[in-house]
Amino acid sequence: MKTSQLLSRIVFGLLVLCMLGYAQAEAPNPELKPSDLVTHGPWLTYPDPGEITIGFTTVPGCGAGVEYREVGTDEWKQAWHTVAGQIFRHRTARSIRLAGLKKNGEYEYRLILFVPQDKKYHEGSFPKLDNTHKTKQVVLVENPDFRFRTFTDAPEPFTFSVAADLQFSRDVKLRLLRDFHDKCGLKDSKFFAVIGDGHNDIRSMENSYIGTVIDGLQPLGGASRPALFIRGNHEWRGGEASLWTEYFPAPETRSTYFTFQCGDTFFIVLDSGEDKPATTLTYHYTGNNIDDQAFREEQRIWLAKVVETPAFKSAKWRIVLCHSAIYSHGGAYMYNHLAHICQDLFKKDKPQNRIHLWLSGHTHLYSRTIPGADQIYRPYRTRPYGKVYGGKDYDFTVLTVEAGGKDNVENSLVNVTVDKDKISVEARTPDNALMDAFEIKNDGTVVDLNNDTLLMKKSPASYK
Ligand SMILES: [Fe+2]
Repeated sequence: MKTSQLLSRIVFGLLVLCMLGYAQAEAPNPELKPSDLVTHGPWLTYPDPGEITIGFTTVPGCGAGVEYREVGTDEWKQAWHTVAGQIFRHRTARSIRLAGLKKNGEYEYRLILFVPQDKKYHEGSFPKLDNTHKTKQVVLVENPDFRFRTFTDAPEPFTFSVAADLQFSRDVKLRLLRDFHDKCGLKDSKFFAVIGDGHNDIRSMENSYIGTVIDGLQPLGGASRPALFIRGNHEWRGGEASLWTEYFPAPETRSTYFTFQCGDTFFIVLDSGEDKPATTLTYHYTGNNIDDQAFREEQRIWLAKVVETPAFKSAKWRIVLCHSAIYSHGGAYMYNHLAHICQDLFKKDKPQNRIHLWLSGHTHLYSRTIPGADQIYRPYRTRPYGKVYGGKDYDFTVLTVEAGGKDNVENSLVNVTVDKDKISVEARTPDNALMDAFEIKNDGTVVDLNNDTLLMKKSPASYK
C-alpha cells in the first residue's frame, strides 16, 4: 500500500470516529428519575388567603416549577421558579409563589423539572417544544400527598400548632416531630410554626435545617400542611446562615419578617435577631449580625406601616410569632432589638393596636405571662425563673413554648384554636399530657383552665 493510500485510510477512519462521537453526544438524555433530581421536600409555606409558596430542593442545573389545578378540574397551570423572568437553573433551592388562587379552594399540584440539553455548536436553532411533557428533558413528580387547601379571610374557626427550640440530634428531632403529629394534635392542625432555633446552627442549609426539620415533617403531611419557618438566634449562626432567604423567601419583604392572614386573624412574624452583639467578624457565631442595627430599623419602619394597614386594623384577632418577646424574657440584647422594632406600638395605652397573643420560644422553659402584671405561670419541677420583665406595660399574654427542656414536662407542642368568641390554647407534652390550658377573649381577658397541677403561679419575689 502506497503511503498516500495509507494516509487516506487513516483520515477516513478518524472522520468515522468523529461522527460516532457526534452520534453519542446527540443521543437523548437517559430517562431521568425524580429521585435523581428532587433532594428535599416539597414543603408549603407563607400561606395567605388565596396564596401559598411551594418550596423544594433539586440538584444544580435543574430548572423547576409546579403544575397545579383546583381539585375536580382538568386543566393544569404552570408556574416556574424564575429570576427576572428566566427559569433559574443554578444552585439548588426552588421556591414558587402561587397567587390568585381561589380562597378556601382545594388544590393538587405536581413538580415539573426541566433538565435542558446544552445547545450544540453545530445546531442552527433550538428544537420547538409544543408540549414540554413530550420531551425527555422534563420530568413530572407526582404524589397523592401533593395537595393543599388555601386560606380564606372569611371568619372560620381553625387550629394551628407551634413549637420552638428543636436543637436535638436528627433522630431525636424526628421522633419529637412524630410525637407531635401522632399524639399531640399536629395532624389536625391547619398549619405549623417553628418559632426559631429549629437547629443549633446552619453549617449547611440542606444538611442542618432542611435535612432535619423539613425532612422530619415530610412524612407527617409536610407536602400538604403549610408550615412557617421562623428565624431564631441560632438560625443566625453558621457558614450558610445567610442563605436562609434563598430557601424561605417571604413574599413582599423577601426577608425574615412578614405578615399573613388566616380567617379573621392577622399574624405578624418578627425577627428578634441574635441574642448578643457581634464581637468578631466571623460567620460562625455573633459575627453575622455585625450590622443588625440597620436590620432593627428596617423592621421598625415596616412594622409602623403594618399597624396602619386596613388588614391589621380590621382584624378581629392579632397574634405575633417571634422567637423572643417584647416583655417577660431576660436577655437585654434581644429585648433591645424588639423594643426598637415595636417602639410603644403594642403597649396597653394603645388599645387600637391590641395584640391578643404573642407566641415565642428561646428560654428553654415553658411559661405564660399574666397580662398587666409581673407574674408568670411556669411548670413545676423546673429550674427557677429569675425575673419577669416589663409585664405591667402590656395587656396581652406572652406564651413561651419549649420543645427542648431537660425535664419532659417542659417539652411541649402548643395548639391554638381561634374561634368566634375566643382563642383557646393548650400545651401538651410529647405524651399528650395536658400541661396548660387557657382562653383569651376578644377584649384581652384571660380565663385560666389549667388545674394547677403542672403549673404554678408566683410573683418574681418568690423566685429569689
Ligand atoms: Fe434562642
